[in-house]
Amino acid sequence: VEDFGVQNEPVLEYLKGSPERAELEKALQETASKTEDVPIVIGDKEFKNNDVRYQVMPHNHKKKIAKFYYADAKLINKAIEVACEAQKKWDKTPIAERFRIWDKAADLMAGKYRSKLNAATMLGQAKTVVQAEIDSAAELIDFFRLNAYFVKEATKYQPISENPKVTKNSMRYRGIDGFIAAVSPFNFTAIGGNLAYTPALMGNAVLWKPSDTALLSNWVNFKICLEAGVPPGVVNFVPSDGPVFGDTITASPHLAGINFTGSVPTFTRLWKQVGQNIGIYKNFPRLIGECGGKNYHFVHPSADVDTVVNGTIRSSFEFCGQKCSACSRMYVPESLWPKIKGKLLAKRNELKIGDPTDYNSFTSAVIDDKAFKRITGYIEHAKKSPNLEIIGGGKYDDSTGYFIEPTIVQSKDPKDKIMTEEIFGPVLSIYVYPDGQLAETVDLIGTSTSFALTGAVFAKDEAFLKSALEQLKMTAGNFYVNDKSTGSVVGQQPFGGARLSGTNDKAGGPHYALRWGNPQAIKETF
Ligand code: SER
Repeated sequence: VEDFGVQNEPVLEYLKGSPERAELEKALQETASKTEDVPIVIGDKEFKNNDVRYQVMPHNHKKKIAKFYYADAKLINKAIEVACEAQKKWDKTPIAERFRIWDKAADLMAGKYRSKLNAATMLGQAKTVVQAEIDSAAELIDFFRLNAYFVKEATKYQPISENPKVTKNSMRYRGIDGFIAAVSPFNFTAIGGNLAYTPALMGNAVLWKPSDTALLSNWVNFKICLEAGVPPGVVNFVPSDGPVFGDTITASPHLAGINFTGSVPTFTRLWKQVGQNIGIYKNFPRLIGECGGKNYHFVHPSADVDTVVNGTIRSSFEFCGQKCSACSRMYVPESLWPKIKGKLLAKRNELKIGDPTDYNSFTSAVIDDKAFKRITGYIEHAKKSPNLEIIGGGKYDDSTGYFIEPTIVQSKDPKDKIMTEEIFGPVLSIYVYPDGQLAETVDLIGTSTSFALTGAVFAKDEAFLKSALEQLKMTAGNFYVNDKSTGSVVGQQPFGGARLSGTNDKAGGPHYALRWGNPQAIKETF
């Protein structure tokens, strides 16, 4: 085994009677029993104002688990000022000291606060215990440990000095003078941690605008990092209205970068504003964005049916299809369709949807009312369209929580919007292609959508796999062969896509943190 120098955090199983299960139960009770009052934090000061918001539990939306406040433009500007001051000092902190703090934060997440993070993610984002554990425990910890490891390795490299007695060449990483805005999504607690703290690791100061619907878990993460030793002002916790935040940060000459995960329209809007304001900035702002996908499973006639069915159920329906990587369109050859259809529907029928804290639940509710309306809009479209047939699921009910059944739609039209638009919910659309039209169908994958995030091909035929690797080269930033399109692991499958899926800077890869560095090459002549 290659010595990798650092390990991924193991995923715990929460077996009956295990100490971790007892601890989690306690944390769940504590989290559910109150509405945590979460302030805006700028430097070492907390702020509360009259613009009060609540985070509710998606599976039981009458229960509020966090009360929080939207920062207005004035407070956002104050945070910019504080961050820029903090950056100057933080940049002088030796990188070894920053590694020590990141290590400490990872240890706190892995031990003392693991159950608190998981409870906030389970109740606030409606994740089951398994989904929470791979997110707010394993992936979050991995982002802290592995990014620090990758930076340690990269900074060992020094440029060539042909005769060091005469001329010494070296390189050091500085932060960027200014501030970075981190705008993070609800669907992974870990992504919030990565977007806010990886730029900070490189010597930058950050304004973190967490998602309203991941507020509590991101807040727990923020407090852990303060306890680990991230100085006040280096990361500022600034929940706010999206457009107000966007308008304010892009109007500041100190904007040094935006680290974003979310929708194409929001990222486009931010990019446009930066473009319109170009000329006011001290630095050219760095724009890194991950924006979603229309991820595919392509099944070849030689594929193993059980591998296809098991992988698709997990990819399309785990966490209600709300992973950027979730499979939402599948292409199946006519020759395999009867078998695949039978097994897929049987498995779908077994899925238990319910309370995320119930260990038997496979999924729970979708995140909020907005998502519920968008996703059920596609289900209604399927009910009305003559080209579409709902062959499994299709029911929904938001009386207590935002519940939508895992839904399978068969589409006679491979270009119907259900096959081409991002839905971000538990809806899988399937196009059954004639075996004789293999080449044309493969071609559709890249031409029928503007996204290129994840994709998977299932086949035993070696020649086909070889040609698919070439033909589908541009259709996915993360490409899987005989495996589902979800579940990338930090350090193992660096994650990100191109085209309208984003700038493909590969979160969890060896170069991600370096994108936030500001290297200086030094030539010393003696
Ligand atoms: N990294 C996750 C996955 O691969 C998606 O955000 O499933």
